[in-house]
Amino acid sequence: MSFGVEKTVSLRNYNALALDATADYFCRLGSLDDVHQALAFARANKLTITALGGGSNVVLKNTIHGLVALVELRGIRHRCVGDDVYVTIGAGEDWSSLVALSLRNHWYGLENLALIPGSVGAAPIQNIGAYGVELCDCFVSLQAIHTATGELHEMDAKDCEFGYRESIFKRRERNNYVITEVCIKLSTQPNNRWQYPALRDALEAKLEVKLGEASAVQVTPQLIAETVADIRRTKLPDPARLANAGSFFKNPLLDQQQLARLMVDEPQIPVYPAYNNLSKVPAAWLIERCGLRGYRAGEVGVHERQALVLINYGSGSAAELLALCEHIQSAVEQRFGVCLEVEPRIYGSF
Ligand code: EPU
Repeated sequence: MSFGVEKTVSLRNYNALALDATADYFCRLGSLDDVHQALAFARANKLTITALGGGSNVVLKNTIHGLVALVELRGIRHRCVGDDVYVTIGAGEDWSSLVALSLRNHWYGLENLALIPGSVGAAPIQNIGAYGVELCDCFVSLQAIHTATGELHEMDAKDCEFGYRESIFKRRERNNYVITEVCIKLSTQPNNRWQYPALRDALEAKLEVKLGEASAVQVTPQLIAETVADIRRTKLPDPARLANAGSFFKNPLLDQQQLARLMVDEPQIPVYPAYNNLSKVPAAWLIERCGLRGYRAGEVGVHERQALVLINYGSGSAAELLALCEHIQSAVEQRFGVCLEVEPRIYGSF
């Protein structure tokens, strides 16, 4: 399809929260040539450019000024080196389909990340993670075009500065690149990671054994992927049916003093050790304790089965959603003195 730019386009169908934002200008990027044409258009018209993937981790306010570019770059190729499989994927490929394809080919490493909505190009931006695995565990490099210079850059994991739901693309280089492809390293040898408590419980229930060194031989990558998919289907709403952007807040990282203070009120709260002597606690637990699980304010609300997920029930607006977000943040702050950080990226203006 030839490259074209449309004016005043609704983005309602391009974001998982189904927010009715309008892009001043809109185009689709199906090839590297399209990317360069989009950059030239933006430069000629003095527009900012916002790359949009699957729209599964963004909050779009009413108007996105400038040019919104939907990344649709396709293609998957692979190269085997011994047991290692280097897979290079176009940024517009669907993440969940990639996980399924990898399993069909017996390339292992992505099974814990099954059924995460969104595109491959968006995965490094927030270093997607679930059930004990993060993208950075198999990430090799990515290619991205710098929006100001049009240069193609290759970046490795160190360049991307990955952290917990973090990368350079959410901070210093926010909006400065269009990611075009991602290379990951998988393996023909399974390396099953089943120790994440919720996954372990679900596997034990399925296999009817307590998992230990001997019994873990029954765990296969396919079983992990199936089990993760089952857990996600039970806990997390399908964005196609109930508009949502997955976890709306990050799980807070507390120092020992903050944790000790919190434990006075919440001695039962699960605590996960993190880096630098910090501890991660579930934001969903804190929100639930504030009585907000299942809370609804008009057309937006907190999911009944996962308090970390905010829902747009139909015609909810970004303003309503962000007001709900602030309501939750201040309730948690007042009760526990803990600050909840928003996970999705917020774009545009009212
Ligand atoms: N919990 C509650 N109330 C709830 C839901 C959960 O108290 O309404 C408690 C659970 O009992 C459990 C703890 O919170 O002890 C953790 O819950 P869960 O395993 O569901 O995970 P999470 O911490 O809420 C994180 C990720 C998810 C990821 C899961 C599984 C973040 C921000 N979220 O959620 O990622 O799928 O772990 O690994 O780290 C996403 O990023 O969009 C996302 C869905």
